[in-house]
Amino acid sequence: MRLRTAPRSVALTMIALAALTAFSASAGPSKGDAAAGKKIFVVKCVACHKPDGSGGIKLTGNPTPSWRDAKRMRDPRYNDDYLRDCIVNGKLKSGMVAWGKTGQLRPADIENLIAFIHTFAPLK
Ligand code: HEC
Repeated sequence: MRLRTAPRSVALTMIALAALTAFSASAGPSKGDAAAGKKIFVVKCVACHKPDGSGGIKLTGNPTPSWRDAKRMRDPRYNDDYLRDCIVNGKLKSGMVAWGKTGQLRPADIENLIAFIHTFAPLK
């Protein structure tokens, strides 16, 4: 019977692993799809971050940063883990929404948005 049940348990384990991967938070560099991220960006993010990603819009607290500042983007303090944390948990004092808690973005959407943020051409 072992031979008959083994493939089924392997399949179940793989389904469980796939589910775990889908729901666990990512870490490290985003492997998202920038084109898919852009579709969300132009609806939900563009008002504060500007169509060209240059930011500078201030509501309260800090203005939106420039994603076209190459020096800043290279700074390890602003790596993908930092960007991800901002999108998931927001920067409430500055008016940045905790998108990951609104139920409006799936973890994959957040990865796609991070990938899109990296497509803005540097200005300096
Ligand atoms: C209501 C205005 C507003 C909207 C809409 C908004 N943001 Fe922001 N966002 C901000 C502000 C302001 C900051 C700067 C926060 C700070 O540093 O204190 C920020 C910061 C960030 C950061 C940190 C970036 C960095 O380099 O420091 C990321 C990433 C980010 N936003 C992504 C997004 C994404 C993705 C969306 C759309 C799903 C979005 N934001 C929509 C206002 C907004």
